[in-house]
Amino acid sequence: MSSYDVDFAALTVPIIAAPMAGGASTPELVAAVNAAGGLGFLAAGYRTAVAMSEQIAATRGLTGRPFGVNLFVPSPPGQSAGEALLAYRAELLPEAERWGVELPARFAADDDGWAGKLAALLADPVAVVSYTFGLPSRQEADALRAVGTAQVATVTGVEEARAAARIGVDVLCVQGPEAGGHRGTHRVEDEPGEVPLLELLALVRAATDLPLIAAGGLGTGAAVAAALRAGAVAAQLGTAYLRSDEAGTSATHRAALADPRFTETVVTRAFTGRPARGLRNAFIDRHGPHAPHAYPEVHHLTQPLRAAAAHRADPQALHLWAGTAHPTTRPGPAADITAQLWREARG
Ligand SMILES: Cc1cc2nc3c(=O)[nH]c(=O)nc-3n(C[C@H](O)[C@H](O)[C@H](O)COP(=O)(O)O)c2cc1C
Repeated sequence: MSSYDVDFAALTVPIIAAPMAGGASTPELVAAVNAAGGLGFLAAGYRTAVAMSEQIAATRGLTGRPFGVNLFVPSPPGQSAGEALLAYRAELLPEAERWGVELPARFAADDDGWAGKLAALLADPVAVVSYTFGLPSRQEADALRAVGTAQVATVTGVEEARAAARIGVDVLCVQGPEAGGHRGTHRVEDEPGEVPLLELLALVRAATDLPLIAAGGLGTGAAVAAALRAGAVAAQLGTAYLRSDEAGTSATHRAALADPRFTETVVTRAFTGRPARGLRNAFIDRHGPHAPHAYPEVHHLTQPLRAAAAHRADPQALHLWAGTAHPTTRPGPAADITAQLWREARG
């Protein structure tokens, strides 16, 4: 059994640093938010099981308090539309030629190393595991429960909340449309709901008694307080930590978040094939309307373009994930950001 017991309703500071795959979440960020009384999360998405375990070990070296690990749940295979994907590839080819990169023409099956990560988390349990993009099977959830791990399911609507309750997760992370990064919709092809977070919390509350974590667009203490008043036991913030000292956010992404010329965020499938909210830029405007519902294929297809954009520090061609509260982000130590948000939230 895990020696940890996470009571989300009893966190010293009910603020959770969202898992942020792609480099932003680091062991240092987790430890800093833990030290401030909140709860940090590692993001296992896009990493191998071995890399995940290395991050868990590094985090244990920095904090003695419980922390979470987030997993991408793979979609059932065979859902992605081949023709639409080839058409999108053809659309991106001139850009690839311009920047001297090759786009993949074939896409190997990719389940984000799901089985290996679950095996590692069963062999060496952590306090909390959260899921996005779907749910584990009941057997998988049972197995993690048996080793003492608390389980959180990301849900973006009432039906997903009911499905998560049915497999026996402990907590729901209710993600509103304001959220930065990917929407956690359980099916790739679903268009994500647009009911604002505070209303969505009320709808989910009516459907289940499970404790709720609120996520999406919470950038100020007042917004955190409103989410807690709406019945959430904790607030999960991603964008608010992107400019923190401990985050692994790229310099280009940090600069864009602080650049008043980026005035707007939009939800797009342009970069990965799944809906995700980011700062509006030229790539999204050009390609967003044509991107197919194909994840993770579109993620792999655009990867060389994004790597080239990162190399030349071009914010117009990079995925700059950010939530609607992006104008409120601040730089500095994550512990200070957490403490200030909580001070403001308490009024
Ligand atoms: C850069 C970035 C990466 C993210 N990666 C993940 C992830 O790997 N897993 C996950 O469950 N959520 C991920 N999210 C979504 C967060 O869990 C959370 O729902 C979101 O950050 C809340 O909205 P906010 O950014 O407005 O605070 C990510 C968000 C951002 C901004």
